[in-house]
Amino acid sequence: MTTPPSRPGSAVHDARAARHSYSAEVLERLSADAEQILAKYPEARSALLPLLHLVQSEDGYVSPAGIAFCADVLDLSRASVSAVATFYSQYKRHPNGEYTVGVCTNTLCAVMGGDAIFDRLSDHLGVGHDETTDDGKITLERLECNAACDYAPVMMINWEFFDNQTPGSAVETVEKLLAGEPVKPTRGADSVATFKEVSRVLAGFDDGRADEGEAAGPATLVGLELARKNDWRAPAGRTEQAAEHEAGTEPVGDTGSSAERKPQAPADTSPSGPTAGDDSDAKGSGKEGSA
Ligand code: FES
Repeated sequence: MTTPPSRPGSAVHDARAARHSYSAEVLERLSADAEQILAKYPEARSALLPLLHLVQSEDGYVSPAGIAFCADVLDLSRASVSAVATFYSQYKRHPNGEYTVGVCTNTLCAVMGGDAIFDRLSDHLGVGHDETTDDGKITLERLECNAACDYAPVMMINWEFFDNQTPGSAVETVEKLLAGEPVKPTRGADSVATFKEVSRVLAGFDDGRADEGEAAGPATLVGLELARKNDWRAPAGRTEQAAEHEAGTEPVGDTGSSAERKPQAPADTSPSGPTAGDDSDAKGSGKEGSA
């Protein structure tokens, strides 16, 4: 496939001239992809998150070359790009496995067996949290809640759901991954894509699989079905009150809530808070006379 040329004078075009450790072929391909991503955002800087996923789809992690690429494309410092990449746990700072096996060990999953699943997988694979097997196949992670508590304990493989797991079922699944066999999530997509493939989707390049399988299963819909069966509805009074709040005709907050608290500091009345040299700090804070 021929890579479309970048526009002369564009940020991506300039980035191509910058120094990278990417080969000319890879740089050309990433630059063409970056052009498509940038076109979606009125502010170029807003494209940083998908661009980080893009370089992850190339390298399997946010590499130094990837940091440099993002910085040059967006005219940011490498430190600024690194600051964002280190903030979000979905960006990996060292080479990730082909599959991220994440075990939810948040409260509900933990008490339902998540801790036992993680410990068993850790023993079986010989790796701990955020570590990768020697063959580069699996990175094991402890995950926070995946909003799938109704199927606890939950394991995610490259962010596909494996519900109602046991230590035995989890080991069985990772054995298939290690053997190069396909595994099927219990909900959603029919198969699990590789970490690099998923990273490309997260960068904004649709793989056409978003609507595969069911998303909300029976356990998730129990509350909705109960509400329908019993004709439960949101209280009308609250709905009207919310509308009044939106229209600005009703004070925000319930009686006695913090919304009714008398202003005690400048930040209570000014979103920007106190500024240097503003003597209203002392007046508003009640600290006058305390010095
Ligand atoms: S606690 Fe595990 S999915 Fe919510």
